[in-house]
Amino acid sequence: MTNTDEKLKNLVKEKYSQIALQDKETNMSSCCGAGGCSTEVYNIMSDDYTKLEGYYEGADLGLGCGLPTEFAKIKEGDTVIDLGSGAGNDCFVARKFTGASGKVIGIDFTPAMIERARLNAETLGYNNVEFRQGDIEQIPVVSNKANVVVSNCVLNLVPNKAHVIKEIFRVLKPGGHFSISDVVLEGELPVELQQAAEMYAGCVAGAIQKQAYLNLIKEAGFKNILVQKEKKIVVPEDILKNYLNEEALAKYNNSELGIFSITVYAEKPESFCEPGCCD
Ligand SMILES: C[S@@+](CC[C@H](N)C(=O)[O-])C[C@H]1O[C@@H](n2cnc3c(N)ncnc32)[C@H](O)[C@@H]1O
Repeated sequence: MTNTDEKLKNLVKEKYSQIALQDKETNMSSCCGAGGCSTEVYNIMSDDYTKLEGYYEGADLGLGCGLPTEFAKIKEGDTVIDLGSGAGNDCFVARKFTGASGKVIGIDFTPAMIERARLNAETLGYNNVEFRQGDIEQIPVVSNKANVVVSNCVLNLVPNKAHVIKEIFRVLKPGGHFSISDVVLEGELPVELQQAAEMYAGCVAGAIQKQAYLNLIKEAGFKNILVQKEKKIVVPEDILKNYLNEEALAKYNNSELGIFSITVYAEKPESFCEPGCCD
């Protein structure tokens, strides 16, 4: 891991340590210091969870950018892994599908999130929803474990997305699949936005081009890749003005550039070549 990667990860951890201590309303209404206002960016992306079976208010910090569990074809008895599980929002919805005979494992590297998620699981009385602290670039789960992997608005925050996607391939059982909601770009983001570290922690500057994202999935060996949902994210001008001067803002508004929330599905083949096996 490079120094820059490590710095970005620490920044993300710091940000989510604060967010873990706040409720959804606070996250929605507050600018978190230093003119960032970046949590507002999430709320532009958030989908409504409140009607989903298994929804638990205490786990909803307003941080998602899709509803991956609704697309993930989770069956009773499945083992599901949620990458970047936060306070457990998607894990508890997934638990509704797996039932008591399945297993849900949430992974997050922010200790305050893990603590909050574990408290939530305890309150709900779920002994088959487990939270593990760890970096999803090295998922702390044995190989070929999961039927399904889900993730909601997390990979954009990770410097090395290829590592995460390879790790997803490793932890899935042959024939398993994932459904991941995330933020991607079409067109080049203005350099001022890319450099805005606050915006990074707010989901946008770490996002990559949609096609590059889909290519990483293909290169990792996944099959039947499908964009299940796609939604353009409109960032209000008062937020953009924190990062762009008037000229840059006008240029941005007139460009083809777009920030999108997508939900992507893909399958790990039943049989495939392990590295070296087909040489
Ligand atoms: C935008 S929040 C989404 C939380 C949750 N998925 C939800 O929708 O409520 C991103 C979460 O990913 C975690 N995260 C970011 N990078 C990570 C990494 N490299 N490894 C593990 N967790 C990470 C953060 O700590 C944070 O809890």
